[in-house]
Amino acid sequence: MSARADKETRTSSAMENRSANRNSVPNLNPETDSVGPPSALTYLDPHYWDERFSSEEHYEWFKDYSHFQHLIKSNIYTSSSVLELGCGNSQLCEELYKDGIVDITCIDLSSVAVEKMQTRLLSKGYKEIKVMQADMLDLPFSSDCFDVVIEKGTMDVLFVDAGDPWNPRQETVSKVMATLDGVHRVLKPDGIFISITFGQPHFRRPLFKDPKFTWSMEYNTFGDGFHYFFYILRKGKRCNDEKEDEKCKDSSISLYQDELEGEDYLFRTRFDDDED
Ligand SMILES: C[S@@+](CC[C@H](N)C(=O)[O-])C[C@H]1O[C@@H](n2cnc3c(N)ncnc32)[C@H](O)[C@@H]1O
Repeated sequence: MSARADKETRTSSAMENRSANRNSVPNLNPETDSVGPPSALTYLDPHYWDERFSSEEHYEWFKDYSHFQHLIKSNIYTSSSVLELGCGNSQLCEELYKDGIVDITCIDLSSVAVEKMQTRLLSKGYKEIKVMQADMLDLPFSSDCFDVVIEKGTMDVLFVDAGDPWNPRQETVSKVMATLDGVHRVLKPDGIFISITFGQPHFRRPLFKDPKFTWSMEYNTFGDGFHYFFYILRKGKRCNDEKEDEKCKDSSISLYQDELEGEDYLFRTRFDDDED
C-alpha cells in the first residue's frame, strides 16, 4: 500500500471510529478490516452515502447530543426555525424536537438518507419535521428565512481533499464558500450558524471570517480527551475589532494541541499530504 493510501485509510478510520452510537450492520471495509471506506476521498462520492444509508440505520458522527445539549439550549430558542445540513441518519433533529424545537427542516444530498429519515420520523410521530433532498452548496430556500442553520460533520466532508490545511485547494475553498454563502443568505438578519466539527479555529477562521460575511465568530469545545468544536456565527454581529469579535469559551484549548497526535491529527490536518 502506498504511503498516501495508508494515510487515507488511517484517516477514514479516524473519522469513522469516533462514532458514539452505532446501531447498524457495521460498514466493514474488507481491505482494511476496519470501519469505513478505503479512502477518505470516498466521502465526497454521493453514491457512497446512498449505498451506506441503504444498510445503516443510525450512525452518530462525532459525539451524540448529550455532549453538546447545554450549548444548544443556550443558543437555540424553542420558537426558532432550524435548518439542519446533511442530516444523514443522525438523531440530532429528534433530540432538538424532544427539547421543544419543532420547526425543523433537514436536508441531505442522499435520497436514501432522506427517505429513511422521513419514514423514521413519521413512525415516531415527529411529523412536523420536514426532510428534503437538497445540496448544501445550492440551498433551495429564500433569503432570511431561518433563525438557525446547524451542521454536524457535514462540512467536514468538503475538506477531505483539501490538501494542505493551511492553504486548502481552490476547489475545496470554492465549495466551502458556496455553502457558507448559502447559509449566510438563508439566515434571518439576526440568525446563527452552528457548525459542529473537529476543524480547528486556525483552519476554519479564514473561511468563516471572510470579509463578505456579517457574522461574528465564537466557539466552545466539548468532548472528553478528544475535543470537538462548536462554532457559533452570529449574523449581523460582526464588529470592527476582530479580537473583540471572536470569543473562545473554553480555556482548555491550549491543552488540546497536545492531543493532536495519531489518527485524529491526520484526519484533521492532513499536513503530511504534501510530503508524498
Ligand atoms: C459525515 S456525515 C454527517 C451526518 C450527520 N450530520 C451526523 O452528524 O451524523 C455527512 C452527511 O452529509 C451528507 N452530504 C454530503 N455532501 C452533502 C451536500 N453537498 N449537501 C447535503 N448533504 C451532504 C451525506 O449524505 C451525509 O449524510
